[in-house]
Amino acid sequence: VARAPAPLDPAQIGRSRGTLAVIGIGPGDAAGRTAEADAALAGASDVVGYGLYLDLLGPALDAKTRHESGLGAEEARARQALDLAAAGRRVALVSSGDAGIYGLATLVFELIEREARPEWRRIAIDVVPGVSAMQAAASRLGAPLGHDFCAISLSDLLTPWPVIERRLAAAAEGDFVVALYNPRSEQRQTQLGAARDLLLAHRQPETPVALARNLGRAGESIEITTLGALPLDAVDMLTLVLVGSSATRLLPGTPPRLYTPRGYLAKR
Ligand SMILES: C[S@@+](CC[C@H](N)C(=O)[O-])C[C@H]1O[C@@H](n2cnc3c(N)ncnc32)[C@H](O)[C@@H]1O
Repeated sequence: VARAPAPLDPAQIGRSRGTLAVIGIGPGDAAGRTAEADAALAGASDVVGYGLYLDLLGPALDAKTRHESGLGAEEARARQALDLAAAGRRVALVSSGDAGIYGLATLVFELIEREARPEWRRIAIDVVPGVSAMQAAASRLGAPLGHDFCAISLSDLLTPWPVIERRLAAAAEGDFVVALYNPRSEQRQTQLGAARDLLLAHRQPETPVALARNLGRAGESIEITTLGALPLDAVDMLTLVLVGSSATRLLPGTPPRLYTPRGYLAKR
């Protein structure tokens, strides 16, 4: 598509081109951060993020300007990061897990597209991948994502519940392993029970389910249960719920392992 050149903005002349790295910092501790994320953090002058995530970064933030905001202030965070980068700063905007999976990367692009501010369009943007909660949970459990899987967020704050219901029903019918993000909060108590019922329409009550809580953080816990016995009250916003497909197996042991075979041995 041919585009007319953007008009010159005198305020931008001579100003260095700012950078914005949208960084997934993994689920928690430094061990779960990629080397690429560490390098991107090291190169930043300013770090923008939710206070808890900035605290998790510890010494990686030494000598950097810290811009902390509260839970739920995602749009304000993304705007602040864009404005700092537009002013020529080297900005890191941090997201937990992977920044592109229910993270801030998408909000950055949405703001740039919607608001068409020329100073934001000049920013060099880099999205740096991180280990998402479902990957961290899967590695602790064994190999539950070894065959087709999907992720569904149960948060209906931004997505209408009927849309989420339709996706849950399709995932249930399609026999995907399902990673449930944002499963339950103080304000949203009913969605997880409803999701369990939709999945039970196509899956046995004995289907293995894992509750992975606080991965990579103090108090990390992993519990394996079944779909029929899913303890709804044990789940909160710091939990990733992984529901097996009809093929997912529980291998007893210490610890017990979950895996979903790809079918190598069945071909023999
Ligand atoms: C807004 S989403 C962010 C997901 C994140 N971008 C990722 O890739 O993991 C928040 C949800 O991710 C899951 N989650 C994020 N970090 C987690 C952790 N350390 N332990 C368990 N679940 C986590 C929970 O389901 C939580 O409600």
